Amino acid sequence: MTEGKIWMDGSLVPWDDAKIHVLTHGLHYGTAVFEGIRCYKTDYGLAAFRLPDHIRRLMHSAKMYFMDLGYSEKQLQDAVIDTINANKPEEYYVRPIAYYGYGKMGVNPLPNKVSIAIAVWKWDEYIRQSDPQKGARLMVSSWMRIDGKSMPMNAKATANYANSALARMEALKMGFDEALMLNTAGKVIEASAENIFMVRDNVLITPPVNSGALNGITRDSVLAIIRHYGSLYEIRDISRDEVYIADEVFLTGTAAGIRAVGDIDNRIIGNGDIGQLTIEIKGKFEAVTQGRDDNFNKKWLTYIS
Ligand SMILES: Cc1ncc(COP(=O)(O)O)c(C=O)c1O
Repeated sequence: MTEGKIWMDGSLVPWDDAKIHVLTHGLHYGTAVFEGIRCYKTDYGLAAFRLPDHIRRLMHSAKMYFMDLGYSEKQLQDAVIDTINANKPEEYYVRPIAYYGYGKMGVNPLPNKVSIAIAVWKWDEYIRQSDPQKGARLMVSSWMRIDGKSMPMNAKATANYANSALARMEALKMGFDEALMLNTAGKVIEASAENIFMVRDNVLITPPVNSGALNGITRDSVLAIIRHYGSLYEIRDISRDEVYIADEVFLTGTAAGIRAVGDIDNRIIGNGDIGQLTIEIKGKFEAVTQGRDDNFNKKWLTYIS
């Protein structure tokens, strides 16, 4: 997409004019925090999914990096809506980013101005999908997931994504679709940019976020749906060998949605087909995002215009 408008520090500017200085602090030192939000078509019009929760997480990420965003949560929610409205009414991925800007070079960003931008684009295939009937092919990364001893993992900071990018590049170069990452204790923690669930004996299992995973809003939504519909679940550590012998595995993320996993390190998951619970949860999640489930509609959807 090269047309449309991008919101920059309060103004909507044409796509091609949304530029920043090459000495922007965030570019050199990874001092930026961001969000990924989706807006979906529903029977009642376009709606942003869990917008207040995403903006709250952005605020928390910013706090971790001593960033004063200069806007209230409500103002930033409105800015997201304005940006969507300033573009063609479509299903979008929405990317707000706050960054320390151009000013003083050097590791300390505090003297520099904090800027915010919000862009939207259509983003369909986030994890490569050669066969829609099959799940993604994962490899356990040789890169360990960074953790809270080095970085605030509750901050969705660009700096954390160098680790993710190394893992994703390695997986793609090795012919896989996505990387599965272990934490410093050797436990399965998340993929390069998605949380993970596995199914064993009809129980859905996901690792706790305090062992280093991002507190994913899709993960949280899936857990709420599971609780509401009464499926069995556990939040506990998952070992590498256990995930190989899971009945089903799926990934969750705003960009990726709910994505079945077909094999991990060449061990086929289940019988190789997309599992029944994965199909069920994905169907329920899509009903929620498309405004077809009244149990979650009012709570999680912000209608645009
Ligand atoms: C490292 C990581 N884990 C998990 C997720 C999933 O989070 P969410 O569902 O909030 O998009 C993301 C997505 O941004 C991520 O980057």
